[in-house]
Amino acid sequence: MCGIFAYLNYLTPKSRLEVLDLLVTGLKRLEYRGYDSTGVAIDSPDSKNIVMVKRTGKVKVLEDAIKEHFSGGEYSEPVMTHIGIAHTRWATHGVPCERNSHPHRSDEGNGFVVVHNGIITNYNDVKTFLAKRGYEFESDTDTEVFAKLVHHLWKTHPTYSFRELVEQAILQVEGAFAIAVKSKHFPGECVASRRSSPLLVAIKTKSRLATDHIPILYGKVLPRSDSTSEFMPEEKEVEYFFASDASAVIEHTNRVIYLEDDDVAAVRDGTLSIHRLKKSLDDPHAREITTLKMEIQQIMKGNYDYFMQKEIFEQPDSVVNTMRGRVRFDGNAIVLGGIKDYIPEIKRCRRLMLIGCGTSYHSAVATRQLLEELTELPVIVELASDFLDRNTPIFRDDVCFFISQSGETADTLMALRYCKQRGALIVGITNTVGSSICRESHCGVHINAGPEIGVASTKAYTSQFISLVMFALVMSEDRLSLQQRRLEILQALSNLADQIRKVLKLDSKVQELAKDLYQHKSLLIMGRGYNFATCLEGALKVKELTYMHSEGIMAGELKHGPLALVDDSMPVLMIVLRDPVYVKCMNALQQVTSRKGCPVIICEEGDEETKAFSSRHLEIPRTVDCLQGILTVIPMQLLSYHIAVLRGCDVDCPRNLAKSVTVE
Ligand code: G6P
Repeated sequence: MCGIFAYLNYLTPKSRLEVLDLLVTGLKRLEYRGYDSTGVAIDSPDSKNIVMVKRTGKVKVLEDAIKEHFSGGEYSEPVMTHIGIAHTRWATHGVPCERNSHPHRSDEGNGFVVVHNGIITNYNDVKTFLAKRGYEFESDTDTEVFAKLVHHLWKTHPTYSFRELVEQAILQVEGAFAIAVKSKHFPGECVASRRSSPLLVAIKTKSRLATDHIPILYGKVLPRSDSTSEFMPEEKEVEYFFASDASAVIEHTNRVIYLEDDDVAAVRDGTLSIHRLKKSLDDPHAREITTLKMEIQQIMKGNYDYFMQKEIFEQPDSVVNTMRGRVRFDGNAIVLGGIKDYIPEIKRCRRLMLIGCGTSYHSAVATRQLLEELTELPVIVELASDFLDRNTPIFRDDVCFFISQSGETADTLMALRYCKQRGALIVGITNTVGSSICRESHCGVHINAGPEIGVASTKAYTSQFISLVMFALVMSEDRLSLQQRRLEILQALSNLADQIRKVLKLDSKVQELAKDLYQHKSLLIMGRGYNFATCLEGALKVKELTYMHSEGIMAGELKHGPLALVDDSMPVLMIVLRDPVYVKCMNALQQVTSRKGCPVIICEEGDEETKAFSSRHLEIPRTVDCLQGILTVIPMQLLSYHIAVLRGCDVDCPRNLAKSVTVE
């Protein structure tokens, strides 16, 4: 949901063309966050003004416009110190167009320019206040009020520093934001802040930093003389990056600081300070500099056409990475380091609640039955948005799991805060180290699937699934009656990577199937028991990638309505595996075929009896019932991918969507 990228070089000469190149590459890494319009702001060649370029569409359109707009000459002269800011947008206020693209400016002279991610909820009040003071607005966005508010404060408080101006402005705005501000009145300075939207600062110096933390300054006035409270690199030359996430900076440096809500980070004379207006008792004295473990290859497409395709094919490795260092197959032991100290408390709880959105919610649906079986606790699965709408009762002895690939989804984060306030134990299941959900949870599991860039989630789903299965196994470690079942699951986990490789070999068969289906308007996906989640997730993948209608149907509900849709032309896909609900699934299959339906069947290898019901089938290897969902979802991921390619859809960036939805 909007990507922010800013770059500041201090005493490290770079031409404006090089800066633009850096900004565009940064935006490309963040494009998954939103891709309906883009923009950049840099200094004009005489450094007296700010030049902006904005475009509707993806970063590529901006890149081409930049090539056209700035060529050689004065733009290739190196500048010792410079700050550029950039943005890729997912529209919330105002349609995607150049006028609504960021950066937004304070006045015709471009005194202050702002990039923003999130929603300023009181923007109408601020707008009215500013309009009365003569400000005219040129966009439909909430962001523009921020730029103009900073300008108003600058006019009324001429002695304020840039950092103080932004700080006063954030005191006036409500809602969620991550912002970066550049000003022609404060050349070479950048100020950034966040509240409920992610933002990090990355630091690049020639030699390794001697410090691993930056002290936080508290209070109203920043004592400029007290330079020991700020971060000054040992050598003077330094580069800073401000970004919505780490994938945008990893090719430059692995040293980052994740900002907390209401931190104001400011760079002046190459020195970074982090300031907060108020200090509460448990506030720390410093922000840690984290070393990223991510590798640059992880965020490149390699030989694949799309990130999503790469991520589907990475699953034999990503599931192993989720289990690495945690599952000991020889001793049948599992240790989840991030929650092990909390297991006794979790075992005493009243109920487990699993909360998430989209695909993450489906991973909860997929593992609920096993969690009920192995923990013998009531397990409640909730969509974060609905959970909040209902003001759901939460008790101190509830354990609430928040599942989120990004760790930043606003609805999930709000639900987390709601449960935390009511005293529940908060467990985060995320793929993004340092994300808000990670930091605000009491304990948790990193799913370690590696960066997921395609907007449609694939490998994160299977890794979330496995993380929850591992949790169920930990919870049942000392239950004698469950040992046989645990062994069976552990055995299946050890074979999973090879079985996924086998399923991926169905790729060309799935592609053929996609050719049969891609011109249809609809696809019904039916199953039950452990495979119901695959139906929901498969239908979501088809919808988001191909814009075709698709519905995941609980096969038990078929006769209560959906059967009316079935005829000889309605495409149907059915999952029928040899598990405890096999006979019931066969009933559903017969109900469909007797209405002249001709379903595609996902069944077990060599299951001739089931295959006899249709000419089109995909055979998957046999595994334990509770892990089948991992093997059955992969053909669905491949199918939606191939249909999307055949329909000419943008696989990695489906229309109207964004990977990280940081607004409610
Ligand atoms: C968005 C994405 C979905 C994702 C959902 C939850 O809607 O388009 O693919 O499943 O957010 O995201 P999270 O990061 O919390 O797992």
